[in-house]
Amino acid sequence: MLINRKNILNFLDLVKWFGLRKIYYSYKKNCLEKELKSSLIKKDVAKFLIDKYDGNQGQNVDSKNASLGFGLLHYALVQNLKPKNILVVGSLKGYVPMMIASACRDIGFGKVDFVDAAYDETDDGQNWQGIGFWKKINPKDHFAQVGVDKHIITHLMTTLEFAKKYQSKKYQYIYIDGDHSYKGVKLDYKLFYPRLEKGGIMSFHDIVASGQLTGGDYGVKKFWQELRIQEKITFPFPKNSGLGILQKR
Ligand SMILES: C[S@@+](CC[C@H](N)C(=O)[O-])C[C@H]1O[C@@H](n2cnc3c(N)ncnc32)[C@H](O)[C@@H]1O
Repeated sequence: MLINRKNILNFLDLVKWFGLRKIYYSYKKNCLEKELKSSLIKKDVAKFLIDKYDGNQGQNVDSKNASLGFGLLHYALVQNLKPKNILVVGSLKGYVPMMIASACRDIGFGKVDFVDAAYDETDDGQNWQGIGFWKKINPKDHFAQVGVDKHIITHLMTTLEFAKKYQSKKYQYIYIDGDHSYKGVKLDYKLFYPRLEKGGIMSFHDIVASGQLTGGDYGVKKFWQELRIQEKITFPFPKNSGLGILQKR
C-alpha cells in the first residue's frame, strides 16, 4: 500500500488489525529494541523457553529457527480468546502451561490451573513420559523464572481428584495432555467438557500418535476420531503427536 495523506487512516487501521500497533508506537518512542529483546520471536528468548521448559515433547518446535511450534499456537489462542480461567492437564517440564501463562501475563489477566499427578518412571503404564519433575522442584519458582507465576497454580494430583475437589469451576480454555490411554483421555473429556463454557475452546495433544509408550497404548487418536463435534480442527503434525482443537457451541 502506498502511504500518502489520503490513505493514512486506512494504514493506521491496518496497523491496528494486524496487531502491529504496539510495535508502531514502540518505534515512535524509540523503544522498539527493548520490546524485541523480550519478544517471544527473538531467537535466544525462544531457545531459552524451549530448553528450560522442554518443548521437545511433540510440540513441533524448532529452537534453531526460534519456532515455538504449538506453544505459539496456545499463546495466540489465549491472546485472542482472552479466557479468565484456563485448565492445563499434564506436562513434562511446563512448556505449554508456561506459554499459556505468558499470554495471560501479556494481556494482564487470566489464571491457569495446571494439573499433573507428577508420575515418574516407576508408575509404569501411567506416567506417559512423566519423570516426576513436579515433585522434585518448586513449581512456583520454576514458573517465576519467566515471570508467569502469578498466572498459574500447580495442582499435584490426578484429574479425577482435581475434578472432585473443585466441582463448580468453569473454564474458557482447556488443554489436555495427561493420561494418553483411550480410557484416560475419555475420562478427562467427560470430566472437563461440561466445565467448558459455551464458545470456549478445548484442545488435545497427541491426536495422531500411535503405538505404545511406557507400558500404555496411545488412545487419543481413537478418541479424537470418534468424537462427533462439528467445530473440530486437526493438526496432524508432527507425525508422532499432533494437536486437536474444538470449540463448544
Ligand atoms: C509428561 S506429559 C507428556 C509430555 C507432554 N507432551 C509435554 O509436552 O510436556 C504427561 C504428564 O501427564 C501426567 N498424568 C498422567 N496421568 C494423569 C492423570 N490422570 N492426572 C493428572 N496428570 C496425569 C504425568 O504425570 C505426566 O507428567
